[in-house]
Amino acid sequence: MFKIKNHAVKESFKTAYITEQNYQELYQESINNPDAFWAEQAKVHLHWFSPWEKVYQGDFAQGDVAWFVGGKLNVTYNCIDRHLPTKANQTAIIWEADEPGQSLIITYQMLHDHVCRMANVLKEQGVKKGDRVCIYMPMIPEAAYAMLACARIGAIHSVVFGGFSPESLKERILDADCSVVITADEGVRGGKFIPLKQNTDAALEHCPDVHSVIVIKRNGGNIAWKAGRDIWYHELAAKVASSCPPETMDAEDPLFILYTSGSTGKPKGVLHTTGGYLLQATMSFKYIFDYQPGEVYWCTADVGWVTGHSYIIYGPLANGATTLMFEGVPTYPTPARCWEVVDKHNVNIFYTAPTAIRALMAQGREFVSNTSRKSLRLLGTVGEPINPEAWEWYYHVVGDGRCPIVDTWWQTETGAILISPFPGASTLKPGSATKPFFGVKPALVDNNGQLVEGPGSGNLVITGSWPSQIRTVYGNHQRMLDTYFSTYPGYYFTGDGARRDEDGDYWITGRVDDVLNVSGHRMGTAEVESALVLHDAVAEAAVVGYPHEIKGQGIYAFISPMHDIEPSPQLEAELRSFVTKEIGPIAKPDILHWTPALPKTRSGKIMRRILRKIACNEFDSLGDTTTLADPSVMETLIKNRQT
Ligand code: WTA
Repeated sequence: MFKIKNHAVKESFKTAYITEQNYQELYQESINNPDAFWAEQAKVHLHWFSPWEKVYQGDFAQGDVAWFVGGKLNVTYNCIDRHLPTKANQTAIIWEADEPGQSLIITYQMLHDHVCRMANVLKEQGVKKGDRVCIYMPMIPEAAYAMLACARIGAIHSVVFGGFSPESLKERILDADCSVVITADEGVRGGKFIPLKQNTDAALEHCPDVHSVIVIKRNGGNIAWKAGRDIWYHELAAKVASSCPPETMDAEDPLFILYTSGSTGKPKGVLHTTGGYLLQATMSFKYIFDYQPGEVYWCTADVGWVTGHSYIIYGPLANGATTLMFEGVPTYPTPARCWEVVDKHNVNIFYTAPTAIRALMAQGREFVSNTSRKSLRLLGTVGEPINPEAWEWYYHVVGDGRCPIVDTWWQTETGAILISPFPGASTLKPGSATKPFFGVKPALVDNNGQLVEGPGSGNLVITGSWPSQIRTVYGNHQRMLDTYFSTYPGYYFTGDGARRDEDGDYWITGRVDDVLNVSGHRMGTAEVESALVLHDAVAEAAVVGYPHEIKGQGIYAFISPMHDIEPSPQLEAELRSFVTKEIGPIAKPDILHWTPALPKTRSGKIMRRILRKIACNEFDSLGDTTTLADPSVMETLIKNRQT
C-alpha cells in the first residue's frame, strides 16, 4: 500500500482564489467582523433585487436566526438570468445517461427556457408562492428544471430520493402537505428500471391533498394513469411560454425542505431559506473547489440528498459553472465508468463519496489506469469519514498524485460545507477535513458540555450561526430546538464526534448518536427498527452499525422473534425485502441476528451500548454490565455473533 503522508499546497494551486496568505486574513475578518464580512460576500456573489436592512439577527435559544433581513432576490435569477448576457451559449448542464453513449448538453439559454416552461406548467396547476411541491425523480435534467422551476415562482420544493419506497414517499408528502408531485414514468439506474410512477400511485392512495401529478416521460414504460390527476409534462410544456418572470423573494422565504434522519422518530423536514443558503452554497462552491471559468465539474451525488441540492444544482449554477449530472452508478456497465465519463467530458473537478471510492478500489486499479483522466485538477469527498487507505488510493491512483483532495464535512442541516481544506491554502492530511470555512466556529465539548481546549477529542459543535443554517424543522420548530440546540445550550450540536490535532485540524470520527451512515446515507436506527417490528414474525428489534469495508457502516439487526416463529433463511429474505418495501433498499439490514431476548436494564431499556460492542466484535470492552436485568442474555449474544 501507499505510505500515508501529508501534502503541502501544490505549485499549481498557488494562484487559487484562497491561498495560504489570504485564508488566515479572511478567516479572522469573518470571525471578528461577521456582519461586514458577510455583507461584502453577499454583494460580491449574489444579485439582489433590493438590499437587506440587517445582516443577521436572532439566537440559538429561540432558533430564530435570520440573515440579510429584508433583502430581496430570486435564486433562479442568480443561477440563470444573470449569466445570460455572457453565457447564454455556454453549457450549464451536461447530462450523462445511465447507458454509455447517451448524453445531452444544456446551455444556460436552454436551461432558462426549460425552467420557465416548467414554472409556467406549475402555475397552470395552481401552484403559488409558498406551496409545497414534491419532486420524486431520477437523475435527469428535468429534476434540475423542477427544483429551479419551484424556486422561480417561490414554491418550496421537497425532493424525495428516487430510491425511497412508496411508504417513505407518502410520509414525506403528508408531512410537508404537498399539493403537487413531479415524477417520471420510470427511472433507469445501472441498467435496472425503477417504477417511480407506480411508487407514486401507491403513495398517493393515502395523500388526498395531492391534486396533480406531473409525469416526465423518461422511459416510455407502461404505467397506470389517473385521469384528472396525472399529466404528461411534455404535453403541457409544449403549450406554455418559455419565459416566466422570477418571483421576488425575501431572503428568509423558504427555498426547500429536505427530509433527513435523526436518532429518534420519523425523518425531519429540514427547512432552508433563500438568501443565506444561496450565498453559502455559491461561495463555498467557488472557493473550496476553486472553480475556474470554463471548467467542467462533476458531483456524483443524487439530487435527492443535500449534496445534490447544494453542489449539483445551486452552488455550481449560481457560479455560472458547467455541472455534470449522471443518471447511473459508478460500476455500470463496468467499474471504469466514472473515469470514462471524466475523459468523455473532460471533467476538471470530481466530487464523490468515500463509499464509492472504496467500492471502486476493491475492483482493482486497471479500471482506472486504462483511462487518461488528464483533465482532472481537483478531487473531493463527502458524506462520511474517509479512511486514509481510500484517501491514498484516490490521490495516487485516480489523481495520479497531481490533484489535491478536499475532504468536505457538512450536513443537510448546515446547507453548505463547514469544514474543509482549501486546495490553495491547506496542508492535506489523509482523513482530516482540516479547517473551518469562513465565518464558521467549530468547537469540541465533552459530554458535560465543557469546552475541550487545544488538541483533543469531543462532540463537535458550532458556536454561532452561519448563513446557510437550518431555520426550522418543517411544522415542528420545537423539534429543531430539541435536536440541535438543547443538548449543549448555546451551541449547535452536529451529532458527530471529532478530534482536533496540534495544528488545529479537525478529524471527524463519525456519529455519536443513534444515526447510521451506510454508504454515506443517513438513517436512524429507530427507523429501521420500526420497519422490522411491523413484520408479524418480529417481537422486538434493535439495530446498530458495525464497520463495513465498502459501506463504511453496515446495518446489524438484533431480532427477537414472536414465540411461535422459527427463524429460517426464507424468513430472513422476507424481512430484508420487507424493510426495502417500508423504507427503501438502502435500509436493508446486512446482518440479522436472532435472539430470544435483547439485553435490557431492569427498567426495560435496551442497552444499545452493549449491542454496538457485540456488533463491532469488541467483546473485551463491554463496559459496565451490572445494570442488566439478565446478564446471561449477553453471553448468548456474544456466542452467536453473526458475520
Ligand atoms: C457525515 C451530507 C466525515 C457526518 C453532506 C454528518 C462526514 C453526516 C463528512 C451528514 C466528512 C459528512 N467526513 N463525516 N467529510 N461529510 N459526514 O446530512 O456524520 O446526508 O453528520 O449530509 O455525514 O449527512 P447528510
